Amino acid sequence: MPGDHHLPTGIDPNRPSAARIYDAFLGGNHNFAADRAVADRARELVPELPGIVQANRAFLRRAVRFAAGRGIRQFLDLGSGIPANGNVHEVAREVQPEARVAYVDLDPTAVLHAREILGADPRTVVIQGDLQRPEAVLTDLHLRGLLDLGEPVCVLMIAVLHFAPDSAELTAALRHYRDAVAPGSCLAVSHATGTARAEEMERFVDLYNRTGTPLVPRDRRRVEALFDGWDLVEPGVVHSTEWHPDPGDDVPGDPAATLTYVGVGTRPQAAPR
Ligand SMILES: C[S@@+](CC[C@H](N)C(=O)[O-])C[C@H]1O[C@@H](n2cnc3c(N)ncnc32)[C@H](O)[C@@H]1O
Repeated sequence: MPGDHHLPTGIDPNRPSAARIYDAFLGGNHNFAADRAVADRARELVPELPGIVQANRAFLRRAVRFAAGRGIRQFLDLGSGIPANGNVHEVAREVQPEARVAYVDLDPTAVLHAREILGADPRTVVIQGDLQRPEAVLTDLHLRGLLDLGEPVCVLMIAVLHFAPDSAELTAALRHYRDAVAPGSCLAVSHATGTARAEEMERFVDLYNRTGTPLVPRDRRRVEALFDGWDLVEPGVVHSTEWHPDPGDDVPGDPAATLTYVGVGTRPQAAPR
């Protein structure tokens, strides 16, 4: 990592972090030797990994364009990670030039680099927060100064919920975001799965469990359950390359090799009383 001799509090270079391992997968340079060791081992275990993470980023871009194309101009990116090519505000503004984006991540490295890159942009904020503590996230003064929850918001949970085991806290958090946003809002999720590649995913899970950030892959039914109260957009929960591919996209022969389920839901209008 450049300039890592003066590390801010909370950043431990010896403890691999999910944000920095993912940065290493994407070829970024905001990671340490401990993160790169995990990333290298993961690539040995699952050689398709570079394609898997690129397919995840490509889904993120398509989901953001989908939401912006429906007129949504506000985005809440939960588990936003270390900035990489095609960040949400850049993609959204191709369609909605005034788009506003709140980036939220638990990891201090992700927050630090996002602030460095976005510091002067008045239509973005970067918040350090836990998506499983929605009250704290949604009452953050910077977020409230930027996003109007009375207007539709696209909530993004991309490659993050597989770090959240099933719990009452997670269920309550998902409900909280759903109920806090206006009708017409969207939820986009991408999520690790091992349904069709159990052995590969087992090796991957073992590796993550040893890093201190356990990974919880979910099958299609459990990923669908994350959309409780949202109307799933066709074709529902599918592998990442199968969701609204762009014309000319290279869809691999076996979409299950992406080890990723994705979906987008919309928040229905309230039923008339
Ligand atoms: C695999 S990265 C994905 C980054 C980005 N969403 C993407 O798909 O390109 C997962 C990110 O989620 C963050 N994260 C994990 N658990 C979180 C939580 N409970 N609240 C907020 N962020 C979390 C990690 O720090 C990491 O930056």
